Amino acid sequence: MNRVKIAPSILAADHADLKGEILKAQEAGADMIHVDVADGHFAPNISMGPDTVRSIRKVTKLPLDIHLMISDPEKFAEPFLTAGSDIVTVHTEVVNERQVARLSEVVREQGRKFGIALKPATPIPTWFRNQLNDIDLLLVLSVNPGFPGQAFMPEVLPKVKSAVKMADSADFEVEVDGGVDQENVPTIIKAGATVLVAGASIFRKGDVKSALKQMRAVAERSLQELSA
Ligand code: DX5
Ligand code: ZN
Repeated sequence: MNRVKIAPSILAADHADLKGEILKAQEAGADMIHVDVADGHFAPNISMGPDTVRSIRKVTKLPLDIHLMISDPEKFAEPFLTAGSDIVTVHTEVVNERQVARLSEVVREQGRKFGIALKPATPIPTWFRNQLNDIDLLLVLSVNPGFPGQAFMPEVLPKVKSAVKMADSADFEVEVDGGVDQENVPTIIKAGATVLVAGASIFRKGDVKSALKQMRAVAERSLQELSA
């Protein structure tokens, strides 16, 4: 099994020092930077927009993993791509199969990756199997969208396992997002997640570098146990 990727979520970082926070995460070995975009409509918070992505694009070469928690991803995919996003993920609650196929084309035409996301109560869509070749990443939210620092919802783990089974025959990442911390990483990895998004457990623990390194150590140990 490949190494699990860690994607620190800057929603939980100090927004007055995003550069400093991103560089600390990068130095500690982050694999990508997770950027949560909330529009105050799909999710009950307002966070960051394309201008923020454009600015952080200049401070790191790490892939920028953009999670669009917005009602109208068709309108905003393009500005986020232009701003320098590497992965653009949209919620299945606001797009149908046809829109997913079209958005995937738009994103991939620019050499970027396309993901779909599911809220905790949203099942894997019936059309998912038809679209496997259009999707690079499936994001399973393990908290309700909008805010960092919420408790992980273990009831999403069966959904992660089903997604991973489907992924066997396709090539995509399964990302778990929300309430991931140094304690629950082993169960999440056992369920088969390949990307861990972590906000509060990286940026609100006092020391970003040691928090990330500790998460990496737990993740590697869990992977070793799985392959033993
Ligand atoms: C939830 C966001 C998450 C969140 C993660 O709305 O999609 O990415 O910021 O933060 P933690 O890890 O603190 O739950
Ligand atoms: Zn997110």
